[in-house]
Formats: sequence, C-alpha cells, structure tokens
Amino acid sequence: MQPENLSVEFAVWENIAKIYEALSTPAPLEDRLRKGLNLLMQNQQRGAAIWLESPEPQWVSLNCPLSWDQQVHLQSGTLPALIQKSIRSGEAILQPPNNEIGAILPIQQEEEVLGALILTTPPLADDEIPLWKQRIQPFARMLANDHRPNFTEADRLILQVHQFLNEIHLNSSAGEVYQVTAQFTAAARDLMNADDAALLLTDSANPHLAIKRRLGVGRMWSGQISLRLEDSLTRHALESRQIVQAKHNSHPLFHSEIDRFPDLPIENLICAPLTTGETTLGVLQIINPQRDLKNPLVHSAFILLVNSLTNWIIKEQTATRLKITSAEMEARLWEITKSRNTLRTLFDSIPSSIYIIDRSYRIVAINMPRSQRAHSDPRQLVGKKCYEVLYNRGEICPECRVMETFTQAVTTTRSVHEWLEGDRFIDWEITTYPIQEKNNLPHQVIIFEQDVTEKRSLEANLIQSEKMAAVGQLAAGIAHEINNPLAAIIANTQLLKRELLNDSADFMETLQLIETAGLRAANVVSGLLGISRKENKYEFEPLSLNESIRAALALVHHDLIRRSIEVVTDFQEEMPSLMASKNHLQSIWINLLVNSMDAMDKDNGRIAITTRYAEHNFTIIFEDNGKGIPSEYLSRIFEPFFTTKAAGRGTGLGLAITQRVVKEHQGDIRIESQPGQGVKITITLPDIPRG
Ligand SMILES: Nc1ncnc2c1ncn2[C@@H]1O[C@H](COP(=O)(O)OP(=O)(O)OP(=O)(O)O)[C@@H](O)[C@H]1O
Ligand SMILES: [Mg+2]
Repeated sequence: MQPENLSVEFAVWENIAKIYEALSTPAPLEDRLRKGLNLLMQNQQRGAAIWLESPEPQWVSLNCPLSWDQQVHLQSGTLPALIQKSIRSGEAILQPPNNEIGAILPIQQEEEVLGALILTTPPLADDEIPLWKQRIQPFARMLANDHRPNFTEADRLILQVHQFLNEIHLNSSAGEVYQVTAQFTAAARDLMNADDAALLLTDSANPHLAIKRRLGVGRMWSGQISLRLEDSLTRHALESRQIVQAKHNSHPLFHSEIDRFPDLPIENLICAPLTTGETTLGVLQIINPQRDLKNPLVHSAFILLVNSLTNWIIKEQTATRLKITSAEMEARLWEITKSRNTLRTLFDSIPSSIYIIDRSYRIVAINMPRSQRAHSDPRQLVGKKCYEVLYNRGEICPECRVMETFTQAVTTTRSVHEWLEGDRFIDWEITTYPIQEKNNLPHQVIIFEQDVTEKRSLEANLIQSEKMAAVGQLAAGIAHEINNPLAAIIANTQLLKRELLNDSADFMETLQLIETAGLRAANVVSGLLGISRKENKYEFEPLSLNESIRAALALVHHDLIRRSIEVVTDFQEEMPSLMASKNHLQSIWINLLVNSMDAMDKDNGRIAITTRYAEHNFTIIFEDNGKGIPSEYLSRIFEPFFTTKAAGRGTGLGLAITQRVVKEHQGDIRIESQPGQGVKITITLPDIPRG
C-alpha cells in the first residue's frame, strides 16, 4: 500500500473516530446526536436526519425540508412509512419514490435495528453504500451501549486508554519525562497489540537530527540511538504530518536504520507523527501491530494516545523552558544584587563625601560619610534638596557651582573653609562632575567633597622647608665667606689688647668693643653654619637627658634668679641614656630657656620642664607662663632670622637651629601657644642606637 493512499483513507477514519468521540461524551442524547450528525455531514452537499425508536423516540435533522419535520411530528405521510419499512426489514431504501429523499439507511448493531439515517437527494450510488454503512457505525454502537451497556473488546480498549491517560495525568510530575514518554509508548504498543514500539524525537535546534528510543520488555526504554533523518517512512510521516503505514519491509522508503529494528523482522509498521500547530516533535513507531487502525474505535483510541503524548511533551518542554528561564532570571537577579551591594559598599567606604543630585537639586544617591556629616541616614536624605538637608539653607548655596556643570557640562572645583568648634577648621575641596546621556546636557551631577586640610598644611610646610633650605644655603655661603675675615679681626684685636700698654685705657675699651662685636658676629656665623649643617659635626654619644637639661639650667641659673623666675622640674629619673650630640642638645635647652625668660612680662614667671620615657621615645616638655606667641607668628617662628626681639637682643636663629638639631636626632618639635597664656614646646626624640 502506498503511504500517499493511506493518508486519504485515514482522513475518513479520523472523521469516524471524531464522530465516535462526540457521541460518547457525557451529554443529553439529542445533543450528542446533533454533534455526531454535524460531523457526519461535514463537507457533504446533502441534508440528513436521524430517526430513533429506541432507547427513546428522537428526531434530529440537518438541512432537511420542513415538511419532513411535520410528517415525523404527525407520524403520517410517505417519510414515516418509509422509515418504518426500513427499520422493520433492516434494509436500506436506496431509490425512494419521493424526489426529496435520497436514501434511508437502517442504524443497526448486530441484529438489532435502532433507528434510521435519512439523506436528502440525490440518491446514493452503489459504491458509496459500504462507506456510509461504516460511517454510521458509531451511531449504532453508541445507541446499543446506551441501550444495553455491555462492553465489546474495542470498548474495553477505549476504556483502557482513558484509564491510562487518567493515571498519567494524576501521577506524573515534571522530571519524570523519560519515564512518562516510555509509558505512553508502551500504552500505544499495548493498544495496537504490537511487537514493539519506539519514539523518535527530533532536535528542535536541528530538525535533521533525531533521537530514537526503543522500548524494552517492561515500560522503560531499552535502547537509544542518535540519527541523521534521511529519506525514510519515518521522515515521510514527519514531513507529511500524516500517519503512514507500510505492510512489509521491502517498501522503497524503508530505511535500514531509521525504520527498522535490527533484531525484529518487520511485516507491518505504523509511523504516527506527533504534531501540534506548526510543529512536529517526532514520530511514534509501532512495529507489527495486530490491531487494525481501520477500526474506528482503535483508530480513535490510538489518535487520542498520540495527541495526549504530543501535548504531554509540549507541556514538559514549556515547563522545562520556564524553569530554565526562571533559574536564569534568579541567577541574574542574584548577580545584580551582588554587584549592587558591592557598589554600595564601595560607595560607602570611600572616605570622601560623594552624592549625586538631579536638576532640581534633589539628592539621588549619597554615601555614608556624607550622610554622617549631616547626622542622618542615606535613606532619609535621598529625594530631599541638598542645600536644605546638607547645608541647612532655604535656597541654593551662593557659591555653589553645580549650575555651571548642568548648563555647560563642565567639571568645576571650589574650596570651602569650614570652621568647627574652637579654632579648628576643615578645608574642603568640592568638585562637581556631570553625568551625561549621549549628546544631551547632564541630567545629574556627582558632587565630590574631599577633606584637604592635611594636604594644604603639608603643602604649606613644604613651601616653608623649601624657603628655609634656600635661606640656609644663602646664609651658609655668606657665613663661610665672612668667617675667615672675622677670625682675623678677633685675633688681631686680641693681639693688640695684649700689646697695648696699661695706660692706654681708652684704646683698651675700644678694642674690647671690637672684640665683643667680633665674637658676637662669630656666634651668628656659627649659628648659620649650624642650620646649613655645613660644619658643626654631630658626634653622638650616650648621655643622660636629665643631666644635659640640668647643665643648661646651671648655665642660666644667674639670670633666672635675677629675674626671679621659678623653674619646676618633673624628671623621670629611671630612663635609658640617650644617644645624642651633647653640645647641640645643650644649645637648644639654653635657647628654649632664654626664649621663655625673654617672654616673661609679669612677676611670677614660671618655667616647667618635664621629661618622660615611654615606648622607645624620650619626651621633653618646656612650658612657660610668659606672653605667648600671637597666632599669626606661630607659622613663622622656625624661620631663620625671624625675631620679635629688639635689634641686638635676638638674631632669630634659636628656634631654626633647634629644629635642625631635633631633626638631626630624628625627632620632632611642636609648639602650642595661647596668646597671653604662655608657650608649650614638646620635643620627642626616638631612642635609637647609633654606631
Ligand atoms: N617661649 C616663648 N614665648 C614667647 N615667644 C617666644 C617664645 N619662644 C620663641 N618666641 C618667639 O619666637 C621668636 C623666635 O625665637 P628664636 O629663638 O628663633 O629667635 P630669638 O629668640 O628671637 O633670637 P635668638 O634665639 O636667635 O637669640 C622670638 O623672637 C619670639 O618672638
Ligand atoms: Mg631665642
């Protein structure tokens, strides 16, 4: 049999199967008959009616003359008589003596006549009769069942298929897809009473490839192969979307791998495509079926199974796709949450203040350091106007440069000097950056506020030390040049003094003045050389810190008594010896003591000296209650030649030398002063052994 011919016949069987299905759904008898009649007369030019006597009188008509209904209703006229004749005899009336009636066919199950099908003209041709008899079979079977419910074998098959579908529906769940498809295939094999069955599913990405699974003895798969779908009966079923049946394996379309089972001689093969809408998922292969698909009941049950299997696979594929999509979405959500958290952490852990505002100055995002400065939480600040919640203003800050960034899309920078409690302050550098969408003006601006107080002070120190280095070098150069002539002046003066007679008192006094001036100049020169470190070699030796301060105190003892200045010492006695240059160290103590004495403008002058040793550091504190240093001078006191003392009293080199000496000892000096309240100088020297 050619597969092409089969498809025409199967269309008829499929129609019969549908009629059977319509007639067996639970509904009132009249509705079922009407549905069945509609299906029966599909694509027919005629009208038709069904007359039933049993189990109850029924008349259902479709596109029939009105007079038929009247005659049946009144039970008089030609039509009722002819119907009765056909029912009584159990024979078809093919040429009725009436030009409206085409044929009357008895509806009969085995010997029992249950009713008749009446067709309108034209009369039926002889070769049409067998087909019509087959097509009215479902009516007979259904009516007989309604009348006398005893099951035939075919009915049992239908029941079995329905039971199987019910079970599958109730028990199967996602994940059992292989098992369930195997059960479907086994059910189809059992229904067709076949030797074996296989399911061939195409690859949706590449429909030319397929996987074929074959059933074993039980309900599970026993074999699986991957195939390239070449010309075969199977491919023909797939492409034609029709059930294809071939009776022997010598058919030209038979393919030795796709259509065959290596260990099973094939006498009869059914290939049923699994189709839905536009897609064909694969083919169900039934090998050597003992039941005939031409039997409308078998056919309808088989179709039901194949369609259910198709729907099941589609459902599973959709569910799997959904599961994959939702897992992917979950993974993406997780990624987004993770990177959002990372960004938030990053945003918050930047020590500088950052926030973003929109064109109406509303905060879009703000980091933790900035919201903490506003004593608030980022969530409470977002959506509020920046000048209100961050700067406590009713309108835009006057010096704000955000507008420039919005209108010109430029980055701006400005400095703000913020005064805190007391004399403390913070220098802020505020930079604005535009956030632009392609070619448009910025819709948001990032504001970056950086604390630059320390940076500024370091810059100032750097300038100061550069200045000092320059001054020091210049001074050292000059000092060197005048050192030798100065030595000559002093030496010669001293020589002259010795040579002069005692009565030259006037000259002697003059010479004395020259010597004093010369020595004083020599002192300045040696101080200058001390700053530049050109001379005055440092010789480090272990010494007692307390002793070196005591020795300096002894040197200025007279002056202290004369100016009735009290010295209070608080020395930590137990401490290691300090590696230091003795002379240099002593010179700084003397300078500090002299500075304090010079600053005493009241009677009860007092100098407190403290020494401590802790954590490998020596700390020396000189504190006085003199007039203090005005804040505008504080930044200059380490400059060489900076002095407030009268000419001849101070050179302004003392603290410059002190700073240099402390640095040579790798230490640190700090001066604090409140005007009118005295000065506190803290020197820290590290305890480091020197070779
Ligand atoms: N304890 C202090 N109290 C008040 N002002 C001080 C004190 N120590 C230093 N100064 C101020 O710092 C200036 C610089 O001191 P520095 O020791 O460098 O120079 P000088 O004392 O003026 O001169 P030199 O020390 O060279 O004789 C002083 O002129 C003074 O104005
Ligand atoms: Mg001084």
